[in-house]
Amino acid sequence: MLKSGQLVQGPQVEAFEAEVKSLVGVTHCVAVNSGTSALHLGMLACGIGPGDEVIAPSFSFAATANAVELTGASVVFADIRLDDFNIDPGHVESLITPRTKAVLAVHLYGHPARVGELERICERHQILLLEDAAQALGASENGRQVGSGGAFGALSFYATKNISSGEGGMITTNDPAIARRVRLLRNQGQEVKYQNEIIGFNNRLSDIHAAIGREQLKSLRYWNEARQRNARFLTDNLRGPTTPAIREGACHAFHQYTVRVEASLRDSVIKYLRASSIESGVYYPIPIHKLPYFAAKDSLRSARCSLPVTETAAAEVLSLPVHPKLSGRDLRKIVNVINSLEMMKA
Ligand SMILES: Cc1ncc(COP(=O)(O)O)c(C=O)c1O
Repeated sequence: MLKSGQLVQGPQVEAFEAEVKSLVGVTHCVAVNSGTSALHLGMLACGIGPGDEVIAPSFSFAATANAVELTGASVVFADIRLDDFNIDPGHVESLITPRTKAVLAVHLYGHPARVGELERICERHQILLLEDAAQALGASENGRQVGSGGAFGALSFYATKNISSGEGGMITTNDPAIARRVRLLRNQGQEVKYQNEIIGFNNRLSDIHAAIGREQLKSLRYWNEARQRNARFLTDNLRGPTTPAIREGACHAFHQYTVRVEASLRDSVIKYLRASSIESGVYYPIPIHKLPYFAAKDSLRSARCSLPVTETAAAEVLSLPVHPKLSGRDLRKIVNVINSLEMMKA
C-alpha cells in the first residue's frame, strides 16, 4: 500500500467502504477521519443546525452530544433504561417538541438500543432516527445490524473499538442524498477536484488508516464471538455484581462488559482488582449533562433535564476485561478475585 504512493483518500478507502457496506447491509458508506466526524457530518447532511433540538442519552461518551452542539443545534438529554444502559424510548417521546429534529440513539457498550420502538416514535412525530454505533459494529437485533436503520449510523474505528484503523469513522446510510452530502462535507465541498460545491471540512480518512481497518475487519466476527464467549463465562460465574442483560433477539458486540456494583463499594473494588493486576474501567463516571459545558447551558438546567437512571448508572457501572485475547486463566482469575470479595457478599 505504501509503495503505491497513494496515501490520502483513495482505493483502500473505497474498498473499506464497500466491505463495511456489505457487513452492515446498507447501500452507502462514507469513510471519515473519526466517529465524531461521522456524527457531525451526518447531522449536517441531514440539515440539522441552529434552532433544532436533538434528543440523545447523557450516558454516553461526550462525543455524542458534542457532535450535536457542533452543528449549532441543541442537545436534549433523555434518560436510559438500567437493564441495557440505552436510551429510554418512553422518556424520548415525552421530550419531543416542535423543535425536535432527530433522536440520536447510542448502542452503548455494544448492546443495540431499542431501534424498533424508536423508529415507531420517530415516524409518529415525523422526525429522524440517527444511530451512534461507534461502540457496536457487528451488533444486531433480530438479524438487523446496528447502523442499518434510521437516516444514518456513525461508526468509530478509534484504537479501543472492536476493530480499529488507529483513528477513523464511517457513515452508514440508505439515503443517497445524505451519502453525497457527507462526501462533499468531508472533502472541502468537492467530489471532483477543484469543483468545490459547498463549504466543507478536511475530514478525510487516509488510505493508510483504511488499509489497517480492512485488515482488522477480517477478524471482527471472530473477535466479537470471543468477546461474547468471555462475557458468557463471566455472567455464568460472577457472584455479587449485577451482570449485563441481553435483550431477547439482541446480538451484543460486548465492546464493554459492564456490571453494576453498589456505588459506595466501587472505588474499593477497582483498587482491589488493580492490586490483583486486573484493570477495570468506569464508562462513564460523569454523565454528559454534568460536564462543564453542558451543565452551564440554561436549557439543560430545567426540569427537562432530570435523569435519575443515568445518575444511578454513572455511580454504579464497572467494566471488566472482556477483550478477545483473554485466556481461560485470565477469566477464572477475574471471577475468583471478584467472588472472593467479602464486601460484595454483604
Ligand atoms: C458512543 C461514542 N460515540 C462517539 C465516539 C467518537 O468516536 P471517535 O473517538 O472515533 O471520534 C465514541 C468513541 O470514542 C463513542 O464511544
